[in-house]
Amino acid sequence: MTASVVGLSHRDRRVAILGLGYVGLPVAVRAAEAGFDVVGLDIDVGRVKRLGAGESYVEDISDEALGAVVDAGCFHATTSWDDLAGFDYAVITVPTPLRDGNPDLSYIEDATRGIAPHVRRGSCVILESTTYPGTTEELVGPLLEEGSNLLAGRDFHLGYSPERIDPGSVTWTLVNTPKVVSGIDTASLRAVQGFYDRIVDRTVPVASPREAELTKLIENTFRHVNIALVNELAMFARDLGVDIGNAIEAASTKPFGYMRFDPGPGVGGHCLPIDPSYLSWQVKRSLGHAFRFVELANDVNDHMPDYVVRRLILGLNTRERALKNSRVLILGLAYKPNTADLRESPALQIADQLLTLGADVRAADPHVNGKGIDARIQRVEVTEDEVAAADLVVLVCDHAAFDLDMVSRTGRYVFDTRHRLHGANVESL
Ligand SMILES: NC(=O)c1ccc[n+]([C@@H]2O[C@H](COP(=O)([O-])OP(=O)(O)OC[C@H]3O[C@@H](n4cnc5c(N)ncnc54)[C@H](O)[C@@H]3O)[C@@H](O)[C@H]2O)c1
Repeated sequence: MTASVVGLSHRDRRVAILGLGYVGLPVAVRAAEAGFDVVGLDIDVGRVKRLGAGESYVEDISDEALGAVVDAGCFHATTSWDDLAGFDYAVITVPTPLRDGNPDLSYIEDATRGIAPHVRRGSCVILESTTYPGTTEELVGPLLEEGSNLLAGRDFHLGYSPERIDPGSVTWTLVNTPKVVSGIDTASLRAVQGFYDRIVDRTVPVASPREAELTKLIENTFRHVNIALVNELAMFARDLGVDIGNAIEAASTKPFGYMRFDPGPGVGGHCLPIDPSYLSWQVKRSLGHAFRFVELANDVNDHMPDYVVRRLILGLNTRERALKNSRVLILGLAYKPNTADLRESPALQIADQLLTLGADVRAADPHVNGKGIDARIQRVEVTEDEVAAADLVVLVCDHAAFDLDMVSRTGRYVFDTRHRLHGANVESL
């Protein structure tokens, strides 16, 4: 994303972004760069203060890019709903977590109720949060109508457009990733598509919000299931005496009909551990069926941290050491390379189990600060001394900043959950 603020042609159009996290902040900054007058609302006072000072907490948005739109007066963050008055487009990008295994739509409900009194004739409301098919029409629409005394479709536009950002990726950005767009009727679709046509390279219209909502869940469920497949294969392959990494490498040479997925220590983030369960919950509730692929994938992926810990215990055992009191260095706490995202991170689950079993756990992660990390984990830098002093080094998240050659060379026993390291002292998942 460029730091420069381009064009002022849409500055008379006001955009409200509700929820300024991994998804909302990039949309807000991009819309401001594209010439809209953008106001972002978040309930987190600390975040809003930081944004006002031009300080970004999302890796994909540099302080420079944020500062440019703040200084130009085309983006400002607020906690006050009144500041959203007079918006033309509102984009809802709030969390959609699970609560006791069920979809928790309370954030969407709160944001929708907050924006509803500001909906006017001709305004356009777009939901971006990931959710099950039907949410836009069955939940968001009625709440907006109730709070505005207007009718969706007749008086204001309403649609859904799933976010596809890949945090940390420099190849695929908000701008060059095609954006699926939908509306509850033709005029709504035109309004939603018109908005995104100004901020991304390509929009892909679909027939209804339900189709757009399902599109996002298909994408994430596909990934979740395929990761589970290679994870389960990795466990079997080892017992069969086959190197899964080499086999996947060879399979990936097939130029058609195959898409590469790699095994890992488990899935993290806000998407894979959660989104497929929105779909299985809906299938169960509406149709009475179990969505078996999702349930199986959840089972395999959820247990990968346990499997990693079992392998570590076995590896140390072979070296005549107990895990208890062993010095273990975890490389990478985030769930995704080159990000600071700790949500549902398998590294935290692995660390927790190692601590419970009495290991001396240290961790290095250049992206993650101390917030939200168990105080018993000692934070260290990845120096040769630190690696050499560890009884066991576990690569959990392969940030580009790590000197992997040094780790392979120096570690006495290295366990590699990412198939990135080689050497006699390296054992792979
Ligand atoms: N992170 C990703 O890679 C990604 C990718 C695609 C889709 N999504 C989806 O996008 C949605 C948002 O995810 P995220 O990763 O940006 O979450 P996030 O936690 O990074 O950000 C959400 C923000 O919303 C704020 N918020 C909560 N309730 C609010 C309310 N009532 N009004 C205004 N702000 C409120 C929070 O304080 C937070 O700053 C989720 O549905 C997620 O599944 C995320």
